[in-house]
Amino acid sequence: MPNLRYASQPAQLNSSKDIYILGIESSCDDTSAAVIKNDKILSNIIAGQDVHKFYGGVVPELASRAHQRQIVPVVDTALKKAGITPEQLRGIAYTQGPGLLGSLLVGSSFAKAMGMALNIPLFPIHHMRAHVLAHFIADEGMRKPPFPFLCLTVSGGHTQLLQVSDTQTFHILGETTDDAAGEAFDKAARLLNLPYPGGPHIDRLAAKGNPHKFSFTKPKVPGLNFSFSGLKTGFRNFVMNSQQKNPDFISENLNDLCASLQNTILEMLMEQLKNAAKQTGIGHIALAGGVSANSGLRAMLEKEAVASGWETYIPPLSYCTDNGAMIAIAGYLALIAGDTGTQADAARARWNISSTK
Ligand code: KG4
Ligand code: ZN
Repeated sequence: MPNLRYASQPAQLNSSKDIYILGIESSCDDTSAAVIKNDKILSNIIAGQDVHKFYGGVVPELASRAHQRQIVPVVDTALKKAGITPEQLRGIAYTQGPGLLGSLLVGSSFAKAMGMALNIPLFPIHHMRAHVLAHFIADEGMRKPPFPFLCLTVSGGHTQLLQVSDTQTFHILGETTDDAAGEAFDKAARLLNLPYPGGPHIDRLAAKGNPHKFSFTKPKVPGLNFSFSGLKTGFRNFVMNSQQKNPDFISENLNDLCASLQNTILEMLMEQLKNAAKQTGIGHIALAGGVSANSGLRAMLEKEAVASGWETYIPPLSYCTDNGAMIAIAGYLALIAGDTGTQADAARARWNISSTK
């Protein structure tokens, strides 16, 4: 049994004073730290990890080591840029999971040690919830969605349709039964010899291509779920067969291949989003996660909003992919909800978004 003498202090909400919270994100291959003052971001430092590009995907061992090298300078820079001292912090939020265990251990251990040294509360945060809660950051130009709202949450590891009832209550309406949407982008990109992560490269090249040049079979999936593994296989078979007939097939058709593949993925996402809106009667629709940076998805959502009378909430690009700011706002909202962690909390590689703890 861990020594709970070091359970973190209960959070106290004194409305007359500004609340500074440090947010630490280390679930995958970005080391990030942010400082929030109430719901306003003062700093958001993100250090990527170039080392993975030589391997065409994230190598967990290398990610943990890079986090360990980067975490102190990243947190130090975030505090300095925010213009505050560690003693001014009212709490530390960190990603407890889901994610790569070794990566999570670096961020969570650092947060716990710093929390103990400063004797302030800890806020263990669910990474995918934080992607959604980034919508509650009070940056200029951002609007907070009213409850309940629907959120299409699309990242490298997750693809879910969520009904969000309040800042702590998430209900999964549908999710992928195999690969995530971001994985579909990344694996297709690898086949096309594009660097990792492939999503942004496909997005850029797709803008110059014809989305209807090639067509790929979409799977039939029950309910509001998704499936991308059949598309991945169909795309690979098509590209390999075409290459056998013409060795230059990829280079001669790169833009059209990217545009057609992207269009198929986005149509699959939009179809289920429309079904979810129809079934729930909810017209406030948000996007979250790395794939929400996709320019085609953002445009498709805006177009559908006009057709269906939706109010849409699209995060700024800086809050789409992994960042500490989303962890900091989730920490602030947890403090308001009175949801504090303890030193006994452990990193969680897997964690259902709808479970309470
Ligand atoms: O949320 P995120 O940064 O990390 C996870 O929690 O997984 O998402 C990363 C994913 C990668 O699969 C990446 O290729 C994808 O988001 N992504 C994009 C774009 N930017 C990032 N996919 C499509 N278009 C983009 N512009
Ligand atoms: Zn993420």
